[in-house]
Amino acid sequence: MGRIISVSNQKGGVGKTTSAVNLCASLGAAEKRTLLLDLDPQGNATSGCGVEDYGATSYEVMLGTARVEEAVIPTPIPFLDIIPSDRRLAGAEIELVPQVSRERFLAHALVSVRERYDFILIDTPPSLGLLTLNALTAADTVLIPIQCEYYALEGLSQLLSTIQLVQKSLNPDLRIEGVLLTMFDRRLKLSNQVAEEAIEYFGDTVYKTKIPRNVRLSEAPSFGKPILLYDVECLGSQSYMELAEEVIAANRPPLEVGAAQAGGSGVVDIDKVAAKVEEVQE
Ligand SMILES: Nc1ncnc2c1ncn2[C@@H]1O[C@H](COP(=O)(O)OP(=O)(O)O)[C@@H](O)[C@H]1O
Ligand SMILES: [Mg+2]
Repeated sequence: MGRIISVSNQKGGVGKTTSAVNLCASLGAAEKRTLLLDLDPQGNATSGCGVEDYGATSYEVMLGTARVEEAVIPTPIPFLDIIPSDRRLAGAEIELVPQVSRERFLAHALVSVRERYDFILIDTPPSLGLLTLNALTAADTVLIPIQCEYYALEGLSQLLSTIQLVQKSLNPDLRIEGVLLTMFDRRLKLSNQVAEEAIEYFGDTVYKTKIPRNVRLSEAPSFGKPILLYDVECLGSQSYMELAEEVIAANRPPLEVGAAQAGGSGVVDIDKVAAKVEEVQE
């Protein structure tokens, strides 16, 4: 059964879409059956995969007017399918508000395709609204990209308390998949400081692979290509392939709640981290 990973951070521009697209492409290249679900009305993951012709989107899937199977289309990458998205999805935030169990629409919709994939990644918008709540409710785990920049950890406590809230009321088994340092520049003191702080808070949940700042990664989307198809040799390609290896190696069944509370390896005590992050921000 496929593992559903929500790529989330309510801050914009931290590398969510870049990571979702390129991790998915790398998982596909490793012959893992992968589905990328674009849940951002900006549709950057859709265009970043070179997908232009489509019928049903994540909007119809969310509202239940199309089945997931109808919205899934193949990408140029083997083993990688996508559910595209476009601006209409912005309407879902409003249209779903009066509905009962509005946070669970996506979770219900994904049940029927889960068996067919090894990984399902959800690219979420830069907010903690209803779309992200649906993603967190449907997901097994959250992958949190953190940009190695000023104010990197700002707002993180808000994300962590949203995850806690979802754990308490909607999805008790939700876990942190991993924390990904993006746009890392090892020559910069600041990048190294952010990395150190992230490791201090999140321990070995932080991926060993750091994604470097790499101009090829920012060029690829304008050609509608994941980095592997744009420049397979570049540092960006290499690091997303390495990340895929880490993600595949960590593909274990969800941990018991008890194990998480006992501080089992690789499991973050979110309460503690949230408190610590808040402390630093005050
Ligand atoms: N490692 C990287 N090196 C260079 N540019 C990057 C890198 N990761 C992302 N970018 C660029 O930074 C911008 C924001 O990234 P994006 O993935 O769209 O963030 P988000 O989805 O979190 O808003 C984009 O223009 C993207 O091309
Ligand atoms: Mg994005």
